[in-house]
Amino acid sequence: MFSQSRLYYLFIGLFLVIQTSSSYKPSSIKNLGAFCANDTSHGYPNLNPIDQSQPRLINKVENGTLYQIGSGDDQIWLIHVYGNTGYDFGYAYGTLLRDQIHKVLPRAWTHFQQEIIDSLKDLKLPKWFENIIVNQGLDVALDFQNELVKKYTDEEIYNEMRGLADASQIDYKIVTRLHMLGEITRGRCSLYGLWGNVTLGGKTLQLRALDWDVDAGLQDYPVVTIYHPRTSKLGHAFANVAWAGYIGTLTGMSSLRLGISEIGVSFPDNTFGDESMSGLPFIFVERYILQYSETLDDALSFISDVRRTCHLILGVADGKLGTARMIQYSHSKVNFFDDQNLQPLADWHPRIPNAVYSGMDWLCPSRQYKLYRAIIDQYGQITPELSIKNITSIVKTGDLHVGVYDLTDNIMYVANARGTDEQGPKEAYNRQFVKIDLNIEFARQQ
Ligand SMILES: *[C@@H]1O[C@H](CO)[C@@H](O)[C@H](O)[C@H]1NC(C)=O
Ligand SMILES: *[C@@H]1O[C@H](CO)[C@@H](O)[C@H](O)[C@H]1NC(C)=O
Ligand SMILES: *[C@@H]1O[C@H](CO)[C@@H](O)[C@H](O)[C@H]1NC(C)=O
Ligand SMILES: *[C@@H]1O[C@H](CO)[C@@H](O)[C@H](O)[C@H]1NC(C)=O
Repeated sequence: MFSQSRLYYLFIGLFLVIQTSSSYKPSSIKNLGAFCANDTSHGYPNLNPIDQSQPRLINKVENGTLYQIGSGDDQIWLIHVYGNTGYDFGYAYGTLLRDQIHKVLPRAWTHFQQEIIDSLKDLKLPKWFENIIVNQGLDVALDFQNELVKKYTDEEIYNEMRGLADASQIDYKIVTRLHMLGEITRGRCSLYGLWGNVTLGGKTLQLRALDWDVDAGLQDYPVVTIYHPRTSKLGHAFANVAWAGYIGTLTGMSSLRLGISEIGVSFPDNTFGDESMSGLPFIFVERYILQYSETLDDALSFISDVRRTCHLILGVADGKLGTARMIQYSHSKVNFFDDQNLQPLADWHPRIPNAVYSGMDWLCPSRQYKLYRAIIDQYGQITPELSIKNITSIVKTGDLHVGVYDLTDNIMYVANARGTDEQGPKEAYNRQFVKIDLNIEFARQQ
């Protein structure tokens, strides 16, 4: 017997078969070629020393250990989870971070609900989806979106969310809904991949500067999760940088020395393809790469074969091969760039030998050019420390968090936006970075 809500989903389901069969197009032709806002202003060097203190043990349970790393207002939860299943990971996480999850998720949910309603016009969502949000509420819309992406998503991801919800005693639906938000809000971010002559000593470095919503309170409980699969079915060890209760990947590095970064695109040109709401959400595409890809080639073939969703720019760097690629990403088309064929090619986004980079968006001349100058002016000298001191802070990118990956030495540097009641500058790129030695963290046994 069908319950009322089942009937409702059936109805929406039929509706969707019709709607999603033709994926939606970038908002309107008029928008093709629009540029992002002109911002040529520069910031000040970040002169905070990098925090090099050792992680402090906080708590330990079956399948998980919780540490804190960093000092003062710039502390980060560092959690290790071990398991044979996604559920084991999630259960250990939810047990150790129960209080933090209860502080982050309800507040973030309330915030995003209001934010999305207020900015609906700018989000360029398909009309039918907008209608669900307006008429039924964001919760119904996201539950519905979850139904659309489920069949493309590894069930261990859902098992992990279930374990997290069970252990922390938070509503499972709130957890799944928050993981759908990345697809409909667009972070404006920056990335680079640098190797060979551009860096000091020929290191492979990657930048992930996340410019997203700093008013959702996510940064109050930043978490770096180190996953330790006990079976190869769950891939290999990797590090994910996020917030209490969030298991999608926006930022992270793997034990096979692959790094990932991403930019949401609001100003595409007509070289991008269509978008779709049904496919594997990009936060799980990125996570898959860290968890399962062994080489850059693995990662690129996964991206080319997976059912993609929205317009993005991705960065993947490989410390083993000493190179990086940038990917122009959409539902219907994908293009892979190295330093020889990087796009968009313009006087505000010139190619740089041994580098791929993108500042804030695709058609974003002022921000692209600032990042270009910061790299080219320091060509041959760039280290993680210099990047922190004199690139992200100067070009002003990474307000919510910044990750700088040293993929040669397996070290990650992370900073987060100022949390509630904390002191100092607001933006992550102006705050103290914490150094995390992943050689040690990936090797930690329970
Ligand atoms: C952007 O702003 C700078 C400084 O105000 C100005 O010199 C430049 O012409 C502007 N560029 C565009 C494309 O408007
Ligand atoms: C810990 O992980 C093991 C598998 O590695 C699993 O059998 C066990 O149930 C887990 N314990 C808890 C409390 O989740
Ligand atoms: C690095 O720079 C040197 C000297 O400028 C040049 O000869 C060499 O080809 C460059 N190597 C690469 C990989 O670009
Ligand atoms: C910072 O970068 C600028 C060029 O973007 C350069 O002129 C300056 O010397 C650099 N400062 C430091 C401390 O490296």
